[in-house]
Amino acid sequence: MGEHLDVEGILAALTLEEKAALCLGSDFWHTAPVERLGVPAVMVSDGPHGLRKQPQEADHLGLSGSNPATCFPTACALASSWNADLVRRVGEALGRETQAEEVAVLLGPGVNIKRSPLCGRNFEYFSEDPYLSGVLGSAFVQGVQSQGVGTSLKHYAANNQETDRVRVSADVDERTLREIYLPAFERIVKEARPWTVMCSYNRLNGTHVSQHPWLLTTVLRDEWGFEGVVVSDWGAVHDRVAAVRAGLDLEMPPQLGWSDTALVEAVRAGELDEAVLDLAVTRMLRLVDQALANARPDTPVDRDAHHTLARAAAREGAVLLTNDGLLPLAPQPGQTVAVLGEFARTPRFQGAGSSQVNPTRVDVPLDELRAAVPDGVEVAFAPGFTLDGSGDPGALAEEAVALAARADVVVLFLGLPAAEESEGFDRTHMHLPLPQLELLRAVRRASRRVAVVLVNGSAVLTSGWQDDADAILECWLSGQAAGGAVVDLLLGTANPSGRLAETIPLRHEDSPSYLSFPGDSGHVRYGEGVFVGYRGHDKLEQPVAFPFGHGLSYTSFAYDDLAVAVRGSHADGDLRVSVSCRVTNTGDRAGQEVAQLYVHDREASVTRPVRELKGFVKLDLAPGESSTATFELTARDLSFWSETVRDWVLEAGEFRVSVGPSSRDLPLGEVVHVDAPRVAAALGAMSSLEEWLADPAGAAALHDVLGTRDDGRLAGMLGDEELQRVVGNFPMRSLAGFPNVTLDHATLDEVVARLS
Ligand code: BGC
Repeated sequence: MGEHLDVEGILAALTLEEKAALCLGSDFWHTAPVERLGVPAVMVSDGPHGLRKQPQEADHLGLSGSNPATCFPTACALASSWNADLVRRVGEALGRETQAEEVAVLLGPGVNIKRSPLCGRNFEYFSEDPYLSGVLGSAFVQGVQSQGVGTSLKHYAANNQETDRVRVSADVDERTLREIYLPAFERIVKEARPWTVMCSYNRLNGTHVSQHPWLLTTVLRDEWGFEGVVVSDWGAVHDRVAAVRAGLDLEMPPQLGWSDTALVEAVRAGELDEAVLDLAVTRMLRLVDQALANARPDTPVDRDAHHTLARAAAREGAVLLTNDGLLPLAPQPGQTVAVLGEFARTPRFQGAGSSQVNPTRVDVPLDELRAAVPDGVEVAFAPGFTLDGSGDPGALAEEAVALAARADVVVLFLGLPAAEESEGFDRTHMHLPLPQLELLRAVRRASRRVAVVLVNGSAVLTSGWQDDADAILECWLSGQAAGGAVVDLLLGTANPSGRLAETIPLRHEDSPSYLSFPGDSGHVRYGEGVFVGYRGHDKLEQPVAFPFGHGLSYTSFAYDDLAVAVRGSHADGDLRVSVSCRVTNTGDRAGQEVAQLYVHDREASVTRPVRELKGFVKLDLAPGESSTATFELTARDLSFWSETVRDWVLEAGEFRVSVGPSSRDLPLGEVVHVDAPRVAAALGAMSSLEEWLADPAGAAALHDVLGTRDDGRLAGMLGDEELQRVVGNFPMRSLAGFPNVTLDHATLDEVVARLS
């Protein structure tokens, strides 16, 4: 353990210029030192799935080289493991490498929601679901930070596309933010306490996130209790003074001579309270102190062990989409396995942009397969296509088809070439490249035993071609050890246990964000609201290619013995719904099953999703073995964000709790009744007649001033049943003063005042 800084003493001794300088980096990757007071610079580096420490020429686009580091699976693959413990272990390994390289903060994880399958950075994000993103992101941060280095939770918030990413305004209503785009950040901030949070580039409802007081202070600090540093995404600051006021502490990379000058001048001119700047400086000093106190540059890194962990993680992230029994392969001596597709020889295992890691080594699937098959099995290769579209597609396909025709089985690697998905731009469609699909069709004509291995960071459509494959294994961009992992799965030395963290639709047009992604004229309206991903597909009752949560195994599982118990009460703040069920491995191989729990509020005053993931457990089961999956739900898990109450609201009534292997395969379910006190916005003159009558105190007050008929209804015109149906949604203010309504505005105002 290293030294400590005297934060208060240093703050008192700093000049205004030094304070301003501390709120800017000193270069691309370092904070500013204050040598005369013994404050060193500390280094930050990308992230997230490997350390990208650039020793010399710095840029943030991955253009110049970085020190070798283990390239773990990217977030899309890690998330498909649905294994928080595994993600934590990957985080620990990343933390060790970060320590050993004397870097204080690893810039990740990215927990933005996959709003559209087209987002160029989907490979860097976990899921379309906020619960899954939050649980896994939290494990990631806990893992990294357990090694005494920090993380930067990014990109906060509503940065769900690359198109016009620095300027676009994400126009999102508060309920959608609270239920979809913020919960992963909220959970991670509260549970895992990241050292830093990185604000995103975009604007939110018109205001640049880097200068958004509601996001950076009201929600992040006041509500969630975040105490660390808010750092800008690289180049996200436009008005440095407004940014400090909003709660942004550190600008990266620094606009030297510009931003620092602006801060000094604003304080001198009385436009920026020095106490506000002091807060940011204090947080910066605490960050440096935390880094110094925890620095362990002699941390040993076992590269072989990290490579092995990367392979295990890649195995767990692969999703077996279909399998008619072809997999696992069991090639016999004398047989030929045709390996087709350039990806088998030139693996693609990570995405492009700021997250690009210089791997310590790379497993090549073709080599791994050759090494793993029994003696006497021929593994023959033909590229079938090129990654950059060069070459003669006819000749390449012909060679591959000829090989397929003479082989006993075909393993065809298809995927997205690097040029098709990256940080910085979005895709324009979800298709695999045409030459690859044509190759599959031709290979299919030559072979009845074709396994397709997919290599891509964001989801690709399968609907046009999936019947041409006897098995499809989605391997994502799974890091430097992916080549070995895929062979483990193909040959059955490991059993696939990944599950989709995002829906694969039948058509891109079915994606809930289709009509408004990526927006235009500087705005992207999140018109689908909370109905993102499966929430939208399910509400629309659309068929999909593969539902959220789907993934096959080489064994089979059965679910029974569901038990659901409601305990405590919402009024007392201790409501819990305990759920358990038994899961049995009914096949003849060991395997892992992900039991998923979804909740549906059956009657709500707002439109709610048909089901929402609120729990999952990954179980390791030997053949014939049973295990109990247990879950516990809180009131928040059953609530929605009310725009009128401006808070989470749990409405009393029936909730369906379902458990099963995917969002569309839920063999167990039970309806439970949950009690909750009625919560409504305070009544005012603009509340409607219906709202007044639904509120016991409001109804009593109306009866008081208008009188009561013999049948218990309101006296006068407003008590008329038919009329109520027509004007029930009129504000009382409009009704008061209508001819024949014996209520005037002054009386209404008095009643409102009395009730409040
Ligand atoms: C990316 C961040 C990254 C930063 C530093 C930005 O362009 O959006 O994710 O951490 O650069 O490289």
